[in-house]
Amino acid sequence: MSVARPLDIAYVRLAAPDLAVQARFLTDFGLVDLGLHGDVQLFASANEAPFCYIVEQGEAKFLGFGLWVESTEALEALAAREGRRVQSLGLPGGGSYVRMTDPDGFEIDAVAGQSFRSDGTSECPVDWNENGLRRRVDSFRRTEKGPSHVLRLGHLGMAVTDFRRSEGWYKDRFGLLTSEEFETAPGKPLGAFMRLNRGETPTDHHTVVLIESPTPRLRHVAFEVAGLDDLMAGREHLGQCGYRPHWGVGRHIFGSQIFDYWLDPYGREHEHWTDGDQLTAAISPKLVPLSDVMGVQWGAERPSRD
Ligand SMILES: [Fe+2]
Repeated sequence: MSVARPLDIAYVRLAAPDLAVQARFLTDFGLVDLGLHGDVQLFASANEAPFCYIVEQGEAKFLGFGLWVESTEALEALAAREGRRVQSLGLPGGGSYVRMTDPDGFEIDAVAGQSFRSDGTSECPVDWNENGLRRRVDSFRRTEKGPSHVLRLGHLGMAVTDFRRSEGWYKDRFGLLTSEEFETAPGKPLGAFMRLNRGETPTDHHTVVLIESPTPRLRHVAFEVAGLDDLMAGREHLGQCGYRPHWGVGRHIFGSQIFDYWLDPYGREHEHWTDGDQLTAAISPKLVPLSDVMGVQWGAERPSRD
């Protein structure tokens, strides 16, 4: 079966009852407000993508997300296979997409042909003096106060009603690889961290996380920030803006990211992270206990929310 291998996650789509309230949170979180385009409000990160976050006005809800596929040819092949139309995005950056519906009704877009911005950046130029190495000499570390610098949308986690069914749906279409699968008891799978298949090109340990649950929903959406100082400055900023920390700071076990989670005004988890693991396609899937999935290497334990 042919698959369209994604290059990365392109955007997330959520609905919010009050666009201004959501926009205030997202800008305090470190995204750039691009304003209204038709009936959606767009937000960008610092990388080259034209946008990474789409908000529609409506009942607070996770709508879906987009994945960049390799080419418009791959998009057309996917559309033909799915019996769907290739549509114009009609948003800054142009490009086309094919919208599909996953087993829980989330709208998943395959995207190609967008023009990227030339002013994007993904560099963190300040060296660390650590592990006995003295890389930063005759220069000074000065951390800017204010929102974190969100480099890019990195991944999201979803609660799905049937893990195996959703796993098959995403793997059939996008060729995702399992980094770790976790189970409640031997032989009882509950979910998985899944990454993109980029061959020998390193990619994030996970781009999509699935976990079985009676109610399908977005569990969290996660953004890479410029570094640890940037994450901590952003944490301070969000606190000063009146938001309450949700989970963090800590270091995950699977993916190894240093993380800091915040709730948006409608209770949806938004994560800042930095220093995640990078894997090629050569690493084999592992089976791990559920207790380690929410566990930390150091830092705050997950609040008992779910
Ligand atoms: Fe995460």
